[in-house]
Amino acid sequence: MSELKSQGQETPKSGLWGGRFEKEMDRDVLEFSSSLDLDRRLWRADLAGSVAHARMLGRQSIISQTEAEQIISGLQQIGREIEAGLTSGREPFSSQAEDIHSEIERKLRELIGPVAGKLHTARSRNDQVATAFRMTLCEGSLAIDHDLKRLQKWILQKANDETETILPGLTHFQHAQPVSLAHHLLSYFWMLDRDRERLTDFRTRAMILPLGSAALAGTSFPVDREQVARELGFSGICENSLDGVSDRDFVIEFLAASSMVMMHLSRWCEELIIWSAPEHGFVELDETMTTGSSIMPQKKNPDIAELIRGRTGRAYGALMGALTMMKSLPLSYNRDLQEDKFHAFQGLDVVVSSLRVFCPMLETADFNRERMAESLRGDFSNATDLADDLARKGLPFREAHEVVGKVVRFCLKEALTLEDLSLEQLKPFHPLIDETSRTVLSHDGVMRARTSRGGTAPSAVLAQIERARQKL
Ligand code: ARG
Repeated sequence: MSELKSQGQETPKSGLWGGRFEKEMDRDVLEFSSSLDLDRRLWRADLAGSVAHARMLGRQSIISQTEAEQIISGLQQIGREIEAGLTSGREPFSSQAEDIHSEIERKLRELIGPVAGKLHTARSRNDQVATAFRMTLCEGSLAIDHDLKRLQKWILQKANDETETILPGLTHFQHAQPVSLAHHLLSYFWMLDRDRERLTDFRTRAMILPLGSAALAGTSFPVDREQVARELGFSGICENSLDGVSDRDFVIEFLAASSMVMMHLSRWCEELIIWSAPEHGFVELDETMTTGSSIMPQKKNPDIAELIRGRTGRAYGALMGALTMMKSLPLSYNRDLQEDKFHAFQGLDVVVSSLRVFCPMLETADFNRERMAESLRGDFSNATDLADDLARKGLPFREAHEVVGKVVRFCLKEALTLEDLSLEQLKPFHPLIDETSRTVLSHDGVMRARTSRGGTAPSAVLAQIERARQKL
């Protein structure tokens, strides 16, 4: 927009409301208020909305069939021109446009003359923008859904191969009980599953048509909103025109769902960062997905995972921005609402771009089974199972817990591991300790023993994989 001034051009009196005004809009004001940079992304949905609206106007004899056809073919022509411009790198939009809606109307008038002015019958930019925006965000959410599904598929495939791979399961970031890598990865499957459900749910409420609300009060023309809704793929119609033009719940729902996607990715990235540190060495990220250092020749850094973790703040910021934008708005449309695109696209872009690199980063990662198994040695993550053994033999679990606590204390003092204690060393701690007590102490056995539904035993994990597969 800044080239406006340097070109020294006269700002034109707006084609949309010239009659009421004698003076032209101040250039700084135009620059300040223009939203073209943001809402140019709505062009496709805006055209589709206008085509459906024009078709309806014709069918309802609000304008003549010939006029409707002229308008529709003009809009289609504009669509082809914009497409061609964008693919060839030629800027298709005028730098003086206030927004994409007025810009497309200007193009239409240029192309088909005054009849273009009939398109805006029974419509306002208020319901027009809300319609195009709902469509565009829903489309964006489908791109997110696509990548989430891709991740879920990867998890299922990987989990199938790793039901026997054990690693420390943590609470408080301390070794707690061993789990399988399959089980660990599958936990993300269910997070992503909920993410996808939330996005589907968002679409259910977003695909309710505001068009026909006009500026705020509806229209005196005999519009057929049902027909427009069907043509544009909406599943229902806003029942209240005031709500229709001013509702941005769908933006907030989208950003809330997106924030949760980012929160999940960020947690996962955090783990990958830790897992790829030499102290762990559980995973090696592919060279194509990592960076080096300008000073330390040995470095291989998980920058991409860190950037995703860092950019999660952008998604949260977008959600807060949208909530704050809405909090004091009286009915109905207020220009504040134009800011909705800024927040929504910030959220959308960060999720889409993060997923684009996160998927291949994970798919090319090399998981190190040996390092995972090694890290369990002497970690006492088998202690619960010794207590369970005593509890199975009749000792109240609380007492068993106390006994094993003392065994662990002894090991720590003597620098011994639980699994290496002989029966002779163990027996003095409780009369119920016998040879079977020792057999429950292998980490592998500990993992295999957790056969409860949703547990980490390979049998339970295979059942989990099956349920996940059905869900997918
Ligand atoms: N660019 C505006 C927006 O995104 C379009 C609606 C303009 N309506 C108005 N009454 N000024 O909200």
